[in-house]
Formats: sequence, C-alpha cells, structure tokens
Amino acid sequence: MAPDITAKKGREPVVSLTAYHAHTAAIADKYCDFLLVGDSLGMVMHGYETTVPVPLELMVMHGRAVVRGSKRALVVIDMPFGTYEESPAMAFRNAARVMKETDCGAVKLEGGRRMAETIRFLVERGIPVMAHIGLTPQSINVIGGFKAQGRTQTDWDRIEEDARLVTEAGAFAIVLEAMSEPLAARITAKVAIPTIGIGASPACDGQILVMEDMLGLSSRVPKFVKEFGRVGAVIDGAIASYAAEVRARTFPAPEHTYTFSAGDAAMPAQTASKKPKTGST
Ligand code: KIV
Repeated sequence: MAPDITAKKGREPVVSLTAYHAHTAAIADKYCDFLLVGDSLGMVMHGYETTVPVPLELMVMHGRAVVRGSKRALVVIDMPFGTYEESPAMAFRNAARVMKETDCGAVKLEGGRRMAETIRFLVERGIPVMAHIGLTPQSINVIGGFKAQGRTQTDWDRIEEDARLVTEAGAFAIVLEAMSEPLAARITAKVAIPTIGIGASPACDGQILVMEDMLGLSSRVPKFVKEFGRVGAVIDGAIASYAAEVRARTFPAPEHTYTFSAGDAAMPAQTASKKPKTGST
C-alpha cells in the first residue's frame, strides 16, 4: 500500500518500473516495490508522439491488466492529460473511476504548486497520490520539448517549492523527472517522502525506468536509460527463425503436431486434427 512506500524513506531504496501488461507485470512484481502504469504507454505501446492524446479508457484497460498480473507490488496508475487539471472535483471523479475500475492502489498526476490543492482534495477523500515534478511530459507543448529541468540554479527555488507543496498536500512519494543531480539531492534531503528518480541521478530515494527502455525494446532511449537487456534483439531473432522455418516447412515439426488414432478416422477432418493425443496437450 502507499504508506509502505513512504515508510522506505531513509531506510531502503524504492525500486520501480512501468508495466503495461499482465505478463510483464507478473515478472516485475517479484522485484519491484511499485509498478507504474504510466501514460508513456501511449508512446511505447500505441505509437503516439507524446502522452497528450492518451485517453482515460486506455489507462483503465492497461491498469486492469497490470493489477491482474501483479500479486504484491503497489500498482500506481497515471492520470492522463485533461482528466484532472480543471478542478479538484473533476480529478476526484476520474481518479475514483480509475481506482474502482482497476483496483489499483494509487494514482499519479503531474504538476507541483498548481496541483497541490487537487492532491490534498484527493488524499482527504481516500485516494493516495504520487506527485510528478521536474520534466512533466504532459506539458510538452508549453515546455517546448523533452528538456531536462533545473540545469541552471535560477530554476531551483521554483522546483524545490513544487516538491515542498506537493509533500505538504499529502502526496506519498514524488517522481523527479529529468533534473540535475544537485537539485534532486536538495529536494531529497528536504522532503519527508521518497523521491523516485527518472533521469534525476542516484541522489533520489528510489528509481523508476520505462520497462521497454531498460529491456532494449525502444528504438530511441534518453541519455539516462541503461539497457539492462537486449530483448528487442532476442525477439527479432526469434521471429526471424520462425519465419524462416515456416518458409522452409520445417515448422511445425512432428512434435508440434497432434497425432491421429484409428478411432478418429471417422471424425470430420477439422475436428480430428485439433484433438490432442490422449494424455498429451
Ligand atoms: O508515464 C511514465 O512512464 C512516467 C514515468 C516517466 C515516471 O510517468
């Protein structure tokens, strides 16, 4: 639950990844403290250029899959652009829908000072909120690109103030995205909740990465991503072998083919060919 994540502050690093499907959630669940159904799924899974077009329905659909796939990690679901900014009441309506329809444990929303009132409103009404400051991708059209934040000291006070205000409003943790190490270190030292870094240095209390990026499945990865695996190359090799074997007619082989006993001879061909051999699958 959300308070278990908060309790890790100062004790142990918080480990997290994004997850969008039941099967990858089931694997990551063994190693992560929380799984984020990030709105990055719009770019990673659905081919959007930014997260701005992602609809709430998509978050609910992938959220349900991740909740079904995970057993112990907290599942946090992103509120997509346009579903919470207008008013605290609107945010509550949509966040409550996400929680009721997915059974997730918390929601995340982007914004510091401007979202503090909304965070308080949700938390007071039973919805745990993870905040997200620094680079906030839903504001890309205002920021003018996926740009690291706080690289000059002039921005630091504003971003530290964002962190203070969302903490006071009741957020249980804060994502710090794409910011310089000294700023992340200052925020982490000042707030009482865990900071979860993505491109925000080892100074944070925990880390998150987009799973497809760290698995080597993404074509473009930001500077801060380390590819811990080359899964894209493995998938490429497997599909190339499959295609070659189908073309060479070496797949399916006898061991992938159902056998046919004499008693089945009278059965219509389609049914008989699907019937498994007794005792096998
Ligand atoms: O949507 C997402 O994947 C995120 C992470 C970058 C934290 O918000």
